[in-house]
Amino acid sequence: MEVGFCFRLALLLVVWSTGHCANIPDGVLHMECHDRYFMIAVDLSISEEEEPHFEAVDETGVHPLTEKYAAECGYSVYHTLPGRVELRASYLSCHTENQDDEVFTFNFNLIVMHDGKEVTHALNKTCSPALPWSPREVTCELDYMEVSVRSELTCPSGTKKDDWEALKPAHGSTTSDWQVTFHKEDEQLPPMSLSEARKKGYVFNLTDGRLVFRAPYGQPESLSTEVNGVPVEVVHATLFSRQSWVVLMVDLVAACSMDEGSYDDGGYMMWSTPETLYPSADGRRLSVGLNGELWEQSAAEDKGYIVEEQNATVQISIPYNAEGGYRKSVISEDLFEFYIFNMNLEHVLVDEDLVETRLRSHRMLFTPLLSRSPFSENRTVLEDRVFTVHLGDVPGDVTLAAVNLNGQEFTVPFTNTTSATVTEVAHPNNTHSYTLKVPFDDPVVIHQFFKEDAVLQYRLDINYTLTLLPENETFYHLASIEATFTDVSPPAFDAVCSESGIRFRLDHRPFDHLWVICIGTEPLTPELAAHHGYIMSNDSQTLLLEVPLFTYGYKYKDVGLNGFFGTYEILIQNRETSEVQGSTVRTCPFTTTEFIMCSTDGRMTVVADLSPASEARANLIDKYCGPKETDGTRALFSFPLNGCGSTVKLGKENVTYQNEIFYKKNLNMITDVSDNTTKRTVIQCTYSLAGLHRLFSVYKFESDTVGVGSIIHTQQYEAGLQSPTTRPTTPRTRRPYRLPVSYPPAVHPPARYIKVSKFYSLPSHIRKDAEGISQVKADVTQI
Ligand SMILES: *[C@@H]1O[C@H](CO)[C@@H](O)[C@H](O)[C@H]1NC(C)=O
Ligand SMILES: *[C@@H]1O[C@H](CO)[C@@H](O)[C@H](O)[C@H]1NC(C)=O
Ligand SMILES: *[C@@H]1O[C@H](CO)[C@@H](O)[C@H](O)[C@H]1NC(C)=O
Ligand SMILES: *[C@@H]1O[C@H](CO)[C@@H](O)[C@H](O)[C@H]1NC(C)=O
Ligand SMILES: *[C@@H]1O[C@H](CO)[C@@H](O)[C@H](O)[C@H]1NC(C)=O
Ligand SMILES: *[C@@H]1O[C@H](CO)[C@@H](O)[C@H](O)[C@H]1NC(C)=O
Ligand SMILES: *[C@@H]1O[C@H](CO)[C@@H](O)[C@H](O)[C@H]1NC(C)=O
Ligand SMILES: *[C@@H]1O[C@H](CO)[C@@H](O)[C@H](O)[C@H]1NC(C)=O
Ligand SMILES: *[C@@H]1O[C@H](CO)[C@@H](O)[C@H](O)[C@H]1NC(C)=O
Ligand SMILES: *[C@@H]1O[C@H](CO)[C@@H](O)[C@H](O)[C@H]1NC(C)=O
Ligand SMILES: *[C@@H]1O[C@H](CO)[C@@H](O)[C@H](O)[C@H]1NC(C)=O
Repeated sequence: MEVGFCFRLALLLVVWSTGHCANIPDGVLHMECHDRYFMIAVDLSISEEEEPHFEAVDETGVHPLTEKYAAECGYSVYHTLPGRVELRASYLSCHTENQDDEVFTFNFNLIVMHDGKEVTHALNKTCSPALPWSPREVTCELDYMEVSVRSELTCPSGTKKDDWEALKPAHGSTTSDWQVTFHKEDEQLPPMSLSEARKKGYVFNLTDGRLVFRAPYGQPESLSTEVNGVPVEVVHATLFSRQSWVVLMVDLVAACSMDEGSYDDGGYMMWSTPETLYPSADGRRLSVGLNGELWEQSAAEDKGYIVEEQNATVQISIPYNAEGGYRKSVISEDLFEFYIFNMNLEHVLVDEDLVETRLRSHRMLFTPLLSRSPFSENRTVLEDRVFTVHLGDVPGDVTLAAVNLNGQEFTVPFTNTTSATVTEVAHPNNTHSYTLKVPFDDPVVIHQFFKEDAVLQYRLDINYTLTLLPENETFYHLASIEATFTDVSPPAFDAVCSESGIRFRLDHRPFDHLWVICIGTEPLTPELAAHHGYIMSNDSQTLLLEVPLFTYGYKYKDVGLNGFFGTYEILIQNRETSEVQGSTVRTCPFTTTEFIMCSTDGRMTVVADLSPASEARANLIDKYCGPKETDGTRALFSFPLNGCGSTVKLGKENVTYQNEIFYKKNLNMITDVSDNTTKRTVIQCTYSLAGLHRLFSVYKFESDTVGVGSIIHTQQYEAGLQSPTTRPTTPRTRRPYRLPVSYPPAVHPPARYIKVSKFYSLPSHIRKDAEGISQVKADVTQI
């Protein structure tokens, strides 16, 4: 982008921020005396269209300093820095009161807009420069060239032939009035009177001791050329007057380097001027500085400036971060910056006659737009399990407004609703940096587990919103970081068989929370464990889960009189995708003398201890239902819940299927002949109605949970042979049976089905009735 763009940006026009009265607030107006000019600066604050303007005042009246008039009369009004308007008035300017070239007084009006009205402040400044005037002084201002020479005559040491050429028009002149002729290259332009020259924008004047000549840049009479590759503008006027036989002639040359400067990648703003603009025999002295300050060459070099002479050209290199330079950020999709240098340079040259020429240049130098993207740096330490991202080199006029993390927007500063933090550090070089920390476990962080490679990857896409002040423009900076853990696997339990179940143990690892421990389709929670009768304990170290036999989740195999195998499975699901990514399966052999299983698909499987009994005689209510397997004392029955003459009892919340095993003592063992009674053992399965809601929608028994089984040993005569003298045996129960001591023999015809409303919404009186009936039966049998 070209410099013009930068410059427009630099012109942040502003107006008084304060001051309800017409007085100028403190600190806003600065008036300084420099070697050869008044410096009037007005600091502005808040953006506004109206900028202040100036009028020069003297006894002839008030002279608005328009652009053209200022350039002709020795004034220079510029925005040297954003927010600052500077007026430089040459001591030799048109409306400056001059006492003996020693005391100068500048009266002027400062006109500002205040509440929509123009307010004029009449001001004045008087300066007495300490620096004596050199025989010739040249000023290359921003808008004009000015040369002044001592008006007393000095005889040149040698007169070249060429010089006399200039005399020709003087010879032909018929008037004693001063006239001027301009030289452009080798051409000598026709002479004109001083008033004609004034009309063309030139000013000639005579002060106490000096002859002054001023010309704005770009006049038709001036020459724009290149010297040693440096653009130069030269205006050359010869002033003459013929007074009878004496011709007075003064040669006035102003030559200025018009170099706009260039920026070198090494970080220097470079500006060149040819050495040969004015003759010098005795070397030169050079001072350079910014914003009106001047340092001798060595002092400037101490500050990092570089002064080089090459090919008869002096090149000044100003470090980009030189004190007094002005830096500004610019947003154009990305962040850029540029620097402005309000440079002044003084060159003192001494010619062979030891006549000193003092050459001053004022130049505004702009760097091009330089990329100034902030950089982000991944400072994550994997072990800390926190993303740490450093955003550095953020210029002072840019602040972090918001951060978008994986699509979620957080304004800065963060509130305590997130575990992410952002901290800011200011650096002495007027930059600052931000450190963003987001724990891996924050919900905003995306993680992905690649099962095949056992790799766990956390990912954070960051979109920083940065705001440029005071313009309030924004741009975005992106960063993506990942953290990868290898050898990551879903949690796996250790399992140990015990007599009464299986014990599982899990030692927690850092990543385990990425998975859900599931029993079937349900996540394992303390509530679920309690519901199913599991025993669970969990602390920060270890999860212990004890799953008692016959509880929910077991699968049985190879059921026989000698025992069976019970298998229990814990599934590990990905918390996000619900994909099963692991499991712990344990199969244990169980040997118990008695057990009852009530399967979810409607089978009752029982191994009952009938000792001492005659196995041949054992049967269920339906006598044709015999044991599948027997040994001397025990019998294995396996039959559908509804079959073999089972009875069904409908409770409020559960349904019980009941059957009985009838058997007789082995006759060979009878010692007491009266002890020939038929014995029976009640076997039953109770299912929760809530788990049976599919019972009547499909013609198949299907329960969500296994039933609770019980084996109740009792001793009773066969129906009709009851005897009160019979010693009842204490019922032998197996956990978790909690049933009445004795049960009546089954008298109901086997039920083929029971009717339960789909949503268990039996009218309450019907439920009561149902309960009442079973209650009554129980009472009857107690008699
Ligand atoms: C010429 O200089 C005198 C002071 O020496 C000053 O009063 C006058 O205004 C100047 N005129 C111009 C046009 O510069
Ligand atoms: C110059 O300004 C001062 C106040 O700064 C004022 O007192 C003085 O009268 C002014 N002089 C002229 C000639 O305006
Ligand atoms: C100096 O001038 C010579 C010849 O004019 C040229 O070859 C050389 O590149 C110039 N050096 C610089 C630094 O400009
Ligand atoms: C967040 O901060 C507010 C106010 O400081 C406080 O009331 C609130 O309890 C905090 N919330 C949390 C989660 O720390
Ligand atoms: C500013 O200082 C910080 C901290 O010393 C450094 O990291 C950064 O690179 C510096 N930036 C510039 C532009 O010099
Ligand atoms: C960054 O955020 C801004 C504002 O929300 C959006 O316009 C821009 O597209 C985002 N950039 C990317 C690459 O997502
Ligand atoms: C900056 O701009 C945003 C909209 O882009 C606006 O919401 C906010 O108020 C502005 N802030 C200031 C200080 O002007
Ligand atoms: C960031 O740092 C982490 C931890 O040192 C490293 O694993 C990762 O590869 C780095 N790079 C990116 C682009 O995330
Ligand atoms: C067990 O405790 C750990 C840490 O206290 C917790 O993260 C985990 O969710 C708990 N597990 C279960 C199944 O409750
Ligand atoms: C069956 O339900 C009754 C109440 O309706 C309850 O008292 C009993 O404990 C339940 N039995 C089982 C084995 O859940
Ligand atoms: C059982 O004993 C009773 C008398 O105690 C007897 O009447 C009956 O016949 C016996 N039954 C059998 C099968 O032996």
